[in-house]
Amino acid sequence: MSTSTSTSGTGQELRVGVVGCGGIARSHGRAYAANPRARIVAALDVDPAAAKGFAEEFDTTACDSLADLAARDVQLASVCTPPGTHTATTVALLELGISVLLEKPPAITLAELDLIAEAEAASAGSVHVVFQHRHGSGAKRAHRLLAEGALGAPQFAVCETLWYRPESYFAPQWRGNWAGEGGGPTLGHAIHQIDLLLHLLGDWATVDAKAARIARPVEFEDVASASVALENGALASVVTSLLSPREVSRLRVDTTGGTLEVNHLYGYSDADWSWFPLPDARTLAANGVDPGVARDAAGEGAGTDVWRASAGTDLPSSHTAQIDELVDDVLAGRPHATTLASTRPTMELVTGLYASAIEGTTVARRDLTPGSAFYGRLDGGTPAERVSARFTLR
Ligand SMILES: NC(=O)c1ccc[n+]([C@@H]2O[C@H](COP(=O)([O-])OP(=O)(O)OC[C@H]3O[C@@H](n4cnc5c(N)ncnc54)[C@H](O)[C@@H]3O)[C@@H](O)[C@H]2O)c1
Repeated sequence: MSTSTSTSGTGQELRVGVVGCGGIARSHGRAYAANPRARIVAALDVDPAAAKGFAEEFDTTACDSLADLAARDVQLASVCTPPGTHTATTVALLELGISVLLEKPPAITLAELDLIAEAEAASAGSVHVVFQHRHGSGAKRAHRLLAEGALGAPQFAVCETLWYRPESYFAPQWRGNWAGEGGGPTLGHAIHQIDLLLHLLGDWATVDAKAARIARPVEFEDVASASVALENGALASVVTSLLSPREVSRLRVDTTGGTLEVNHLYGYSDADWSWFPLPDARTLAANGVDPGVARDAAGEGAGTDVWRASAGTDLPSSHTAQIDELVDDVLAGRPHATTLASTRPTMELVTGLYASAIEGTTVARRDLTPGSAFYGRLDGGTPAERVSARFTLR
């Protein structure tokens, strides 16, 4: 990416643009505005009133084109437009040599993701993706300790996105259909927990999924359940729902050393993470689970609480957590952890899940090549009535 930075009295300052000035752009705006090393110098939206409103709120300039935005020496642009527009917008910014912080999902198909990757390879700019749940202190501790083996070897994981969206949520014309959203809640909502699952546990090998449309007026699923075999030998259950009144976002990892769990909704702090070490022999005996062990046996297995011992400053997962890290990385000329390439396994699992649910077969990650029908469309170009039949339980 471009390394030139403007300077202010406090040192280097990153010149930022925001493209797409709707709901989530405010989270980007607040994070940049609170960061003394960043300055929002341009705002752009297809709706000029939206750009003007954002510009007034964040004391910046409303632009009327990408060229106009580039003319303001923007070094990094947050792309906060609807998912179906991510590819065209990001490629255009890369062609102008501008780096991008791209909202999730990075693209709506693997084909589009690869187009962005090609444009990135040819550009002076880089692409980073918003997956803010990788960037809180809890996920950072979990990532490090799991990689070191300090929490034991993962054996089973449960990845839940149990949210509630009423029928009225689907009233906007672009919601509820493949054309407008590219995919259902597996792509739009569950992708956060799916990304965290793979970020912590590594690559996946196969997926067996069932998706169903139980209640909402959508072309795709409103609930889905998938079994995912991970490359490390663990099994993961990935469950997604928009019909769950008591909402939760949960990731639970059972390892040979204990259970690690994060239980939150749209963002966690350290208090939302817990670690249950292996029960000791005495507890197992008391529960009758291991009757061969005397009730007064010395405790074993629990060991030191490595999770508690790793605690540091609590940094909740949020746009601010990721954007602060990104600004520092860019100004220091370091790569940012959440690269476009690092999100490909997540997009592959989303794709594999739809392919499995629609085809009714086990899908292997290695099969999701450009030759796959699901590479270019998450519904695989399957006729609507066939998808409908697959997603209808009765
Ligand atoms: N990371 C998160 O937690 C999170 C949360 C919500 C939304 N998102 C993502 O953020 C993105 C935007 O979602 P939102 O809820 O803010 O949507 P939104 O509808 O509130 O805002 C989108 C804005 O983009 C503008 N726009 C549309 N096409 C454009 C184009 N080609 N160029 C410029 N502007 C354009 C629209 O006019 C609108 O103002 C989506 O990708 C969504 O998945 C992420």
